[in-house]
Amino acid sequence: MKLFSINTLLLLFVLISFSSSGYAEDGYRLWLRYDKLADPAKVAAYRNAVSQIVLDGQSETIQAAREELTLGLKGLLGTDVSFVNQATKEGTLIVGTPSTSKLIASLNLKNQLATIGNEGFIIQRTKVGTTQNIVIAANTDVGVLYGVFHFLRLIQTQQDISSVNSVNTPKINHRILNHWDNLNRTVERGYAGASLWDWHKLPDYTSPRYKDYARANASVGINGTVLTNVNANALILTPQYLEKVAALANIFRPYGIRVYLTARFSAPVEMGGLKTADPLDPQVIAWWKQKTEEIYTYVPDFGGFLVKANSEGQPGPQNYGRTHADGANMLADAVGPKGGIVMWRAFVYDNKVPDDRAKQAYTEFKPLDGTFRKNVLVQVKNGAVDFQPREPFHPLFGAMPRTPMMMEFQITQEYLGFATHMVFLASLFKETLYADTYAKGKGSEVAKVIDGSLDKHELTGIAGVANIGDERNWCGHPFGQANWYAFGRLAWDHTLSESQIADEWLRMTFSNDNRFLKPVKEMMLASRETLVNYMTPLGLHHIMGYNHHYGPGPWVNQASRPDWNSVYYHKADSIGVGFDRTTKGSDAVSQYFPPVRDMFNSTQTCPEKFLLWFHHVPWDYKTQSGRILWDELCYRYYSGAKSVQQMQQTWNTLQPMIDAERFVHVKDLLKVQEKEARWWRDACVLYFQSFSKRPIPSDLEKPPYPLEHYVKIKHLFVPGI
Ligand code: GCU
Repeated sequence: MKLFSINTLLLLFVLISFSSSGYAEDGYRLWLRYDKLADPAKVAAYRNAVSQIVLDGQSETIQAAREELTLGLKGLLGTDVSFVNQATKEGTLIVGTPSTSKLIASLNLKNQLATIGNEGFIIQRTKVGTTQNIVIAANTDVGVLYGVFHFLRLIQTQQDISSVNSVNTPKINHRILNHWDNLNRTVERGYAGASLWDWHKLPDYTSPRYKDYARANASVGINGTVLTNVNANALILTPQYLEKVAALANIFRPYGIRVYLTARFSAPVEMGGLKTADPLDPQVIAWWKQKTEEIYTYVPDFGGFLVKANSEGQPGPQNYGRTHADGANMLADAVGPKGGIVMWRAFVYDNKVPDDRAKQAYTEFKPLDGTFRKNVLVQVKNGAVDFQPREPFHPLFGAMPRTPMMMEFQITQEYLGFATHMVFLASLFKETLYADTYAKGKGSEVAKVIDGSLDKHELTGIAGVANIGDERNWCGHPFGQANWYAFGRLAWDHTLSESQIADEWLRMTFSNDNRFLKPVKEMMLASRETLVNYMTPLGLHHIMGYNHHYGPGPWVNQASRPDWNSVYYHKADSIGVGFDRTTKGSDAVSQYFPPVRDMFNSTQTCPEKFLLWFHHVPWDYKTQSGRILWDELCYRYYSGAKSVQQMQQTWNTLQPMIDAERFVHVKDLLKVQEKEARWWRDACVLYFQSFSKRPIPSDLEKPPYPLEHYVKIKHLFVPGI
């Protein structure tokens, strides 16, 4: 008789292999892995520093903090740390707010607490009697939770906590994920599976993932989530769906996360049976007011609405001859009394074909400055076209000083290789945040516009279009998680460096081993420039496949609108390539403040990375390297593709340092990225060569196929539409 089948033995083997951590390394745990630290001396030091915990308070948020401390410390230090009532011995971790904890109230923290607002926290060494302890204090329970996550991060990344002294407050109030998720669970521009929100089973079945999603967000300070696509469906506003929304909101609430919805502007007609959705019509106003009140009966702390109006076919106030401000204000009046906000998007372009689409948002919104209600934020994409691998900062930043401007970044990689390319987006985020608008002279960086410091706004916000789906590892690419993490960390504190963020994330997600950290960090930090080189070097943009945006498509010229064609953006001809946005061209440069306008306006001063964004440049133009433009373009494309090969080589040396599962996953995805980088390179170089009529420099290998081969490649069923 056979005792065990092969399958049973295999299963046993798998179970034994993973039993040390209790988990397969499938990426589910994100950066909250909490595996035991490898260095015994460090473990001993942390155990001494945290020998017991006093955590007062009963709220669900405090429960969440308790759970996280229990899970985190047990995992990282390998022992249970007990919760006690008093700081009876050295190394007590004292956690709470002055209103829930007598002990915290008795510590001399009043002055510091007065500076940290509702979400900040303090972590510092403190003496109680003669014992040396650490305190995590905040004014609110959610501040305590943020402090707990930060404290665990310090241990997880092996920081020295012997003299810890951190006073930490978010620089931006509303730190929000935007899910472009549809009610049928498809995700627009989503590459990580189906929507996390299982509407069909809600509200009765709530997946455990919802709580883990909330934990991950809270761990980086994300405090809001827009559940639905900006291309909105009015159904979400029906009682049937609001019940489901409420179930999610109940799970997220203890983690400090408020829920927001997208509002379809025509909802009063589509579901209310009204003849109009005119924002000045009394019946429409009353409908939204009543609808909003209804929403608050389901979700008492509902955050408000995100609206895409009069853009890409979405309905909006302009259908009724009204302005964006009329539309936004009507909704703002509905949610205002309940403490809600409206995030009104500036990503607009109308049906008239513009001379330059990059100018349109500014043209429409700038004149409206000062006409929005106090609880409206205008949400502006980082650049004026559409989440390209590189864009100059959007000219609206700094141009509407009387209106709070909210940043919209895209975390999902619609134009940056989907979930198969490794690209660390902190570099892109930081480049935009630290671009100087000169709105109030030198030092008027975009970051100061959106954190409210430049124009003294209290209401501030930042949004990231999520890259999260129901794939086991949440984001598809194991390194996609780093972009979710980076968005959250920068939303909290935009002064953090890309390098620090990469370092933290790698330590928490993979390993504290320097032999691993150093090369992978370097790879991450270079990855965005690498991608720009193999996709859109020197300021090229919007030259990808039509509609699905997959792969190269510089030849696209048949779209129904000129500004959906690649040729509209690169304008290659026998003389040169690039979009003339100078004062002699579309004059988009004049939407920037004079020093910036002048800098962009001349090829002499325009940063080369934006050259073809602003200038139509002759093929024989001498670039900074000394090469003519054509040669430089070729070298950039080739160097981008080569860098991916180097990434592969680096990754292959790391096998001994990490788990086999994620090693192989990343290795295979790098193969895809390498193949696609060459595809981009070959297709683009051959296409532009058909205008430049110049040879590819002789030291570069020739593409294996003629241009027609690349033009003919058709892709069906591309994800994310
Ligand atoms: C891009 C994207 C669309 C999205 C739009 C938006 O154009 O391709 O899918 O709806 O941006 O931001 O509204």
